[in-house]
Amino acid sequence: MNPAASVFGSVHLGYIVIETNRFADWRRFGTDAIGMHRDDLDAGLMRFRLDDQECRFLLRRGPAEDVVATGWHIDDHATFEQIEARVRAHGVPVVEGTKEEAELRGVERLLRFPGPKGITQEIYTTPVLTPEPLRMLASGFVTGDSGMGHVAITSTKPAQLRGYFNTVFDARLTDYIDETISGVKLKIRFLRVNERHHSIAIAAVRGLPIDPIRTRVQHLNIQTATLDDVAQSYQRVHELGFDMALSVGQHTNDKELSYYARTPSGFEWEVGWNPIVIDETTWEPSTHQGISIWGHTRVGETIVDKLDHFRLGARSLARPERTVPALSGAGIPDD
Ligand SMILES: [Fe+2]
Repeated sequence: MNPAASVFGSVHLGYIVIETNRFADWRRFGTDAIGMHRDDLDAGLMRFRLDDQECRFLLRRGPAEDVVATGWHIDDHATFEQIEARVRAHGVPVVEGTKEEAELRGVERLLRFPGPKGITQEIYTTPVLTPEPLRMLASGFVTGDSGMGHVAITSTKPAQLRGYFNTVFDARLTDYIDETISGVKLKIRFLRVNERHHSIAIAAVRGLPIDPIRTRVQHLNIQTATLDDVAQSYQRVHELGFDMALSVGQHTNDKELSYYARTPSGFEWEVGWNPIVIDETTWEPSTHQGISIWGHTRVGETIVDKLDHFRLGARSLARPERTVPALSGAGIPDD
């Protein structure tokens, strides 16, 4: 096994672990609003399914109100061992998941190691499939070779994050978006690890080392099977009284049609449909101006929210962002 051989294409976002004490709200949000299949394991553990994998979201009780881990499905044992060898070769501790931890996530062969912003990175091989039929309001979700969606992270150290995902997963830059939100200029880098346009987005305030977002992830994304699923879940989010962050719109770069709801934990949840798939033989990175062709209007943001962003941004100056320098190399500056 050559540790330098690329693992690109063999890595897929597989599950997400969320720590929250707001179980009742999350139950309604995930099941009744977004329309996923829910399994209650016990008073402190709940899972959502999108497909025949036993677990796509694992919610456990705790105070973080945040994503605490992302799980990556690795296609085969050789690639799994190759990634493990890379992480170990950089002197970063790799911990084997216990049998119970693997069962909760519905996977075999579980490993974890530290990730950017304190989001633990987990890798696994074979997911456990369940014959139990899906009981959910959505007609279906797109997962498969593309993985289950994406995570978007705000960072004061975007070059280090690119370095990290390049070192560990051979992530490739798909494109950039320059955007101004609430008067703050952002540059967003979109990274892919397979045919999905991006599995990771990294947003940074231009020219200033501030992070305006409290949570480790700014938003998560899942992809619905049909346009009706977007429209109907949007309606349910609204009717059930959950906050909408961005109304329905279409992105400039991956052309995904989506909206963003606010989760009970505070970070946002994007429900999208029909993003483009990357053709590796022809793709060239470019920079788009603005995140949306149309729509994605910010809903109900008040002056208090704006002040909140500045307060959090100022606080982030005094609280350095957690990185994993050993896996970030010299960092990858923007092209
Ligand atoms: Fe997104």
